[in-house]
Amino acid sequence: MSVPKSYSSVAVLLHWVIALMIVGLLFVGFFMARLGDEQLSLKFELYQWHKSFGISVLLLTSLRLVWRLTHQKVEPLAAGWRDAAAHATHVLLYLLSFTIPLAGWAMVSASPWSIPTVLFDLIPWPHIPWLAEAANKAQAEAIFKQIHATMAYGAATLVALHVLAALQHQFWFKHAIFKRMWFSSKDTISEG
Ligand code: HEM
Repeated sequence: MSVPKSYSSVAVLLHWVIALMIVGLLFVGFFMARLGDEQLSLKFELYQWHKSFGISVLLLTSLRLVWRLTHQKVEPLAAGWRDAAAHATHVLLYLLSFTIPLAGWAMVSASPWSIPTVLFDLIPWPHIPWLAEAANKAQAEAIFKQIHATMAYGAATLVALHVLAALQHQFWFKHAIFKRMWFSSKDTISEG
């Protein structure tokens, strides 16, 4: 079987939707966490949107991983250490796309405030039961808050590296990297 040269429509769609959501979540997360109590209603509103999109990232990343594991990988663009670095960045980004929302979910589940999460004002999302019933909730919440923020800012650094590497491929090495991560007429033969 020949190695596909570009990503399939499903992989492209998931890549850009998840990327947009993560970048939005990083900015909104940074902003909302610094709002004072005098802007409580805006803060509450942003937290609900943040939780809704954050859980969506968790669900879409699961779908993306299933897709990735059931379809053939695309041809690598680089060799040697560059290929290894690209691979390591991609694995870490996958991992963080899971663990950051999981830590966020754990944080709100452990919160002594027990504020319900209703995705997009429509779908009630449960708290993780063993955290919602934990003995020392405040301490658990503080730990998950720290983990969530540290991983989120780690992801922001990785996203920046990922974008810089893509730009370098496109404009320095003249590889048509954006074309292969976009919708193409060759979708029927490309997977990954
Ligand atoms: C990929 C997904 C996510 C990203 C990139 C992300 C990113 C962030 C960032 C950057 C912050 C600010 C941290 C700080 O400066 O203190 C934040 C805060 C927060 N996130 Fe997320 N988040 C994600 C998913 C989630 C999920 C799924 C939930 C809950 C269901 C959640 C709940 C929260 C809460 C409650 C805060 C505020 C913490 C505080 O009050 O200090 N996040 N997030």
